Amino acid sequence: MELHNQSDISCSSAAENYLIEKMNEIKIFSPATVANVACGFDVLGFCLDSVGDDMVIRKTDKKGIHITRIEGFNLPYEAELNVAGVSALAMYDAIDVDFGFEIEIYKNIKPGSGIGSSAASAVGSVFGMNELLNRPFSKTQLTEFAIKGEALASKCEHADNLAPALFGGFTLVKSISPLRILEIPSPDDLYATIIHPQIEIKTSESRAILPKEVPLSEAIEQWANLGSLVHALHTSDYDLISNSLTDVIVEPHRGKLIPEFNAVKTAALKAGALGAGISGSGPSIFSLSKSSETAIKVKDAMESIYSKTGIAFEIHVSKINTNGVKIIN
Ligand code: HSE
Repeated sequence: MELHNQSDISCSSAAENYLIEKMNEIKIFSPATVANVACGFDVLGFCLDSVGDDMVIRKTDKKGIHITRIEGFNLPYEAELNVAGVSALAMYDAIDVDFGFEIEIYKNIKPGSGIGSSAASAVGSVFGMNELLNRPFSKTQLTEFAIKGEALASKCEHADNLAPALFGGFTLVKSISPLRILEIPSPDDLYATIIHPQIEIKTSESRAILPKEVPLSEAIEQWANLGSLVHALHTSDYDLISNSLTDVIVEPHRGKLIPEFNAVKTAALKAGALGAGISGSGPSIFSLSKSSETAIKVKDAMESIYSKTGIAFEIHVSKINTNGVKIIN
């Protein structure tokens, strides 16, 4: 296989390479993610382990990218209209092979949920193809391909869901061009609780309501919180995590789109959460807690608010997933 624009190659053992070369099909789990994490709009994110999509990627004699099966949600089969297809096509254009790829998508993450549905699809296809090709591309290069798919859904290029889905743990996107992703450690006892009201908020629409300019005083508060949160994650300082999980710029605008947002946040904090906020562009609401016991109490508190609304919802408690997307066969 010939690569175009290859700059950064990841390595694997000879035995692993041999096995991967023999594989024609791979089944993967592509995880849900929480972007923004209150103070890190468009740059910070973390990976969940209790919810995600399954995908099968298969080599086929027919050249090109072919989406052959979609279950769970009604999404387009045309590769150029499908997030997983667009990222796969971006990668396919960068290689020169005499075969193609089939993609099956078993979607568990509802589109428009705020937990990285499009990112899971965009990451899954390129991760699976890369494995079947014997890993010619680094995770950063895979993120570059996946950004093309993500942009189809959100109408802009950002990687704060893609990076944690690919790398696992917490990630910070230092810049998009050139793409630079920083991996940030996750304290051992940190757990997330996520409530997902079953309503759809389109990322493109929840971006459109945001102000184009922000007052300097708010910007100062936000970047102080983001710097503090990153420091707190490095030093496992749970009090500082709690003290930094504040969003003074985006949440005041988007919070209004989510039924009972303030009540859920207040209940989570009262149940012991370190902090809570909008997951990505909503409607999901995330909280972080020290210990699984507290995360479960937060789940009960969130449930008690939402069960009175009549709006269907799902709720997940998850340890921070430090692995990201993975092979499951
Ligand atoms: N950072 C993005 C946003 C994440 O909040 O719009 C959603 O894709």
